[in-house]
Amino acid sequence: MSEQKSIAVLTSGGDAPGMNAALRAVVRAGINRGMRVFGVYRGYNGLLNGEVQEMNLRSVSDIIGNGGTMLYTARSEEFKTPEGQARAAEYCRSLGISGVVVIGGDGSFRGARALTANGINCIGVPGTIDNDIACSEYTVGFDTAMNTALEMVDRIRDTAQSHDRCSIVEVMGRRCGDIALQTGIATGATAILVPEVEYNIERDVITRIINTQKTGKKHFIVVVAEGVGGVRDLAKYIEKRLGIEARATILGHVQRGGSPSVRDRVVASQMGYEAVDLLDKGYGNRVVVMRDGKITHLDINEALDMKRVFDKKLYKIAMSISI
Ligand code: ADP
Ligand code: F6P
Repeated sequence: MSEQKSIAVLTSGGDAPGMNAALRAVVRAGINRGMRVFGVYRGYNGLLNGEVQEMNLRSVSDIIGNGGTMLYTARSEEFKTPEGQARAAEYCRSLGISGVVVIGGDGSFRGARALTANGINCIGVPGTIDNDIACSEYTVGFDTAMNTALEMVDRIRDTAQSHDRCSIVEVMGRRCGDIALQTGIATGATAILVPEVEYNIERDVITRIINTQKTGKKHFIVVVAEGVGGVRDLAKYIEKRLGIEARATILGHVQRGGSPSVRDRVVASQMGYEAVDLLDKGYGNRVVVMRDGKITHLDINEALDMKRVFDKKLYKIAMSISI
């Protein structure tokens, strides 16, 4: 009789809505295939501090609709060292764990690559609200975060409209303008600033506001990605330059929480299942990705070498219709 396979699952880096749905899929798909499945708490730290617990089918009941991650998450400095990685691998071996599903961003995938190099097969699942992972068209959490940002900007518009004001809203995205672009389009923002597109405040904000004022518009929304920043200064500049009242809002972590959308629950479930399938087949050092709308997988090295492509066409569309 073949020995029962043991795998583990952890969430790492910034949390994202849908992480629970992904880890639930890993636990259930693994157990359904006759595996033992362990939950690792607080990211890679759990492998260094022994915070690991065997899961059963009921351990992940009633979590699919919850934001955050029931396994908690962390950024582990110790795991970045070769000694930390070797110790984590040794701990896995001591429990008979031969594979780990890592749900997180590219930092976490670098960790997964290191752990695989230490003899423990790892599979990455993209989980971050920013959608900033080059190898995958979609990351778990993005849809929910955008819908939260959309609702918030709609609310801000109500008050901006009532006062004939300009509202400048900063949304998350350190290196990636996807949340800003899609939220900007969906809320009819007059201007959208993202880190991927060079901008000039006079041309890309002031002139656009002046042009819409000429056609009768009296309130304005400007959506700015976190990676561009400076929303308070921009509000002051708009007031001084155009003589209209301006207010800045930084949405912040409100975008990271909340019950995951249908899309995030479904994609997370597909990706978690796929990760278990790969471990079952003996694969390691791979990332589950969405490409051309389909769930597939790539070598982690290849995945980490990819450069993100910003949707310039969508940006152009936004600029040509938010007038
Ligand atoms: P994200 O996964 O969201 O990109 P981080 O970049 O903070 O988040 O990475 C999460 C964790 O992954 C880190 O705290 C660390 O434990 C691990 N990690 C990140 N980069 C590396 C690396 N180069 N080598 C090994 N582990 C890493
Ligand atoms: O999850 C990605 C992200 O939301 C970035 O947009 C943001 O800069 C970062 O996480 C902030 O993370 P934290 O507050 O956990 O350090």
